[in-house]
Amino acid sequence: MAAVEQLTMNLNSLGLQDHTLREEADVEHNPIDLYRSYISTELSKISGVDASLIYPALETSISKDSADLNLPVPRLRAKGGKPQELAAKWAEEFPKNLVEVAANGIFLRFNFIGSSLTKLVLPMIWNQRKEFGRNESAKGKVAVIEFSSPNIAKPFHAGHLRSTIIGSFLSNLHESQGWKVHRVNYLGDWGKQFGLLAIGFKRYGNDKELEENPMRHLYDVYVKINADATAEEEKIQQESAEAESKGVPYTPFATLHDKAREFFRHMEAGDEQSLKIWSRFRELSILKLKETYERLNIEYDEYDGESQVSLPFMDEMTDLLKQKNLVEQDNGALLIDLAKFDKKLGKAVVRKSDGATLYLTRDIGTAVKRYEKYHFDKSIYVVASQQDMYFAQLFKIFELMGFEWAKKCVHINYGLVQGMSTRKGKAIFLDDIMEVAKEEMHKVMQNNEEKYSQIENPEEVADIVGKTAIRIQDSTGKRINNYAFDWSRMTSFEGDTGPYLQYAHSRLSSVQRNVDFTDEQMKNADLSLITEPDAYELVRLLGQYPDVLKSAFRFQETSTVVTYLFKLTHAVSKLYDILWVKGREENLQLARLALFGAAKQVLNNGMRLLGLTPLERM
Ligand code: ARG
Repeated sequence: MAAVEQLTMNLNSLGLQDHTLREEADVEHNPIDLYRSYISTELSKISGVDASLIYPALETSISKDSADLNLPVPRLRAKGGKPQELAAKWAEEFPKNLVEVAANGIFLRFNFIGSSLTKLVLPMIWNQRKEFGRNESAKGKVAVIEFSSPNIAKPFHAGHLRSTIIGSFLSNLHESQGWKVHRVNYLGDWGKQFGLLAIGFKRYGNDKELEENPMRHLYDVYVKINADATAEEEKIQQESAEAESKGVPYTPFATLHDKAREFFRHMEAGDEQSLKIWSRFRELSILKLKETYERLNIEYDEYDGESQVSLPFMDEMTDLLKQKNLVEQDNGALLIDLAKFDKKLGKAVVRKSDGATLYLTRDIGTAVKRYEKYHFDKSIYVVASQQDMYFAQLFKIFELMGFEWAKKCVHINYGLVQGMSTRKGKAIFLDDIMEVAKEEMHKVMQNNEEKYSQIENPEEVADIVGKTAIRIQDSTGKRINNYAFDWSRMTSFEGDTGPYLQYAHSRLSSVQRNVDFTDEQMKNADLSLITEPDAYELVRLLGQYPDVLKSAFRFQETSTVVTYLFKLTHAVSKLYDILWVKGREENLQLARLALFGAAKQVLNNGMRLLGLTPLERM
């Protein structure tokens, strides 16, 4: 439906065809904005306060006792009486056809009248379907979102899991608000450890295993060669102690670590032979990672990595730092004393004494390249809060280097996951986490024999619900909080869990399945047949969805959407006993199905935004 048509329709549904919309209102996408526009205009007439001041003061909240819109009168700085008196007076005078108005102390409370709200919200959802909730407000803006970013030859730990879940949601969320998003995975694929790995591969590597499961195999090789290197160190200590006790001089042999450093030096210098083996590790790992991410409905635009900035480019960066008088020598290494600008930032090394680059050096180079490539309006790094200090240093360095885009960089941090382990003593990879979730889910499903026997493809369902369980557990609390990984709680169908959310969706799907009305009929259902207060409660929640996304966006919080979706499913489940469909008169059936169908749509939209695959049956 064209924008203008949708708009006219929305105005008409509330009998507001003569209302002049305020420009802040995005009525095409957000039903509450229509009320904001209407209320601020009407209240302006009564109070004499400019509508542009009233509009932003109208607050929403999804909390139950809150009114649909609240206005703290003092915010208007109106003359002519105390806020309390003004609130009471205005409540009296305000027209009552579309909203109920009450004064509560210094607050004015507006509640939308259920019947008109229903006529506005439901057709809007039926018209916009999967677009409902989205808007174009950020059209033309570009965001680069870097997330997951595991390290090759190291385990994929819980920190990477959270980054994956939060980052993929934030990417979808940005798109829902009109941003152009580039999803980037920044692999830990460079550094001395790749010298050690290459040496280790010669000793322990196996081509077949490398092709089959590169992440795991490289990790196994790395563990072995690391153990060798540690044994060597012990040997050197022992030998030198012996030599000392005998009073003879001792020269240690070239260790694996020395050789690894040497190897990495060749890599940084661009030596083809050394790079050949490394690039095979990288490419095979990426192939495997792509498959794994696909399982989570994630597709990257770019597999970047620490290796992807060249040494000459980093030399250029180092020169720039020198030019800006930012670096000092320290035993041959180069460092920036950031404490001069901000005490708590301390010192940051940008170049080792042998000229080798560091994590930080590569991040500087990468950011510059990233800006040149994408000209971003925002560059997000989704990384655990353990790196808070690191990112504060990094962003300060961008600023000191004079990059105007420095202020466009954002670190989205998060707390720890405690107690995530699958099989004891084994490193975990993303695939394993999903496999275990699937197995656990499968067991839980088998507990209900009767239901289980009706599922056509139990393995697939277990896989999808398992992934949902992981994502929902991770997204239930605020991201900055730590949480404890708990297999039995997250795979339960009781409480606010992933499986429950899938169950709620499939139950709504089954309501729709049992009857066949066309979308056209749904859109034109006689909604005046919906009269129950609990039904209005659901409509209210449905109408809030676009606002919920905005608020999730403001705080960059996944939990905002998750909390909302659980509220929605609770409101729906209450209605199954009240709004019978079967055997009712056709128009009543249609109206009720239009309501359930709209609820399913919003739940579906929210779940997809979270990166989930909503199930039609389970
Ligand atoms: N690979 C890093 C780690 O595992 C995370 C990378 C974060 N991103 C960045 N641009 N530094 O800790």
